[in-house]
Amino acid sequence: MQDRNWSEFVAACSACTRCELAATRRNVVVWRGAVVAPLLIVGEGPGASEDEQGLPFVGRSGELLDTALTAQGLDPSTYHICNIVKCRPPGNRQPTPAEAEACRPWLRRQLQYAGSRVILLLGATALRYFTGETVGITKVRGIWRESRGYWIMPSYHPAYLLRDRRQREPFWQDLTAVRAKLEELGGIPPLPTGEAPDAAAF
Ligand code: URA
Ligand code: SF4
Repeated sequence: MQDRNWSEFVAACSACTRCELAATRRNVVVWRGAVVAPLLIVGEGPGASEDEQGLPFVGRSGELLDTALTAQGLDPSTYHICNIVKCRPPGNRQPTPAEAEACRPWLRRQLQYAGSRVILLLGATALRYFTGETVGITKVRGIWRESRGYWIMPSYHPAYLLRDRRQREPFWQDLTAVRAKLEELGGIPPLPTGEAPDAAAF
């Protein structure tokens, strides 16, 4: 039966056995941040820390992501973070097409609850499974896709920024564009006069 509210949705996700990842997960990782939020952030899938805590992006990647969001003046009331798949792929492998497909109805429903108009896709896997595009992320990051009223921004995965510090600059640019789009659409208020996102803090 279709869930009638957010807590029913979370409960339904938590009981899901639609794909084989159900067999090895510890927790189903649904979201963190605000339920209703102007910005939806989509990663690939839970890692070990996420599986353990039942929350997305709480390991080293998440720490870096949070640092960037905070430096942009984006607090947790402005974003809803989730992943392409809600259960950890063993050994942190990429989710298979079948797993992403099985989990897609949950993600679609989740986006309805969040009501976000701006979507930040973290990494090539999120881009591929969210939009069907198989292009290299380096080629397309920073370029908006507009689809059915949604503004979609592909960018790097924070794990990549951990491996290569130089990629923080383009990621910061993309996040700056996301912030500007949120302001433009009225999802967040502009920063007070004289204040600016703090690039040095990232
Ligand atoms: N990497 C992801 O793609 N998602 C998480 O939740 C954590 C790390
Ligand atoms: Fe269900 Fe998604 Fe977990 Fe697969 S990854 S069991 S589809 S919640």
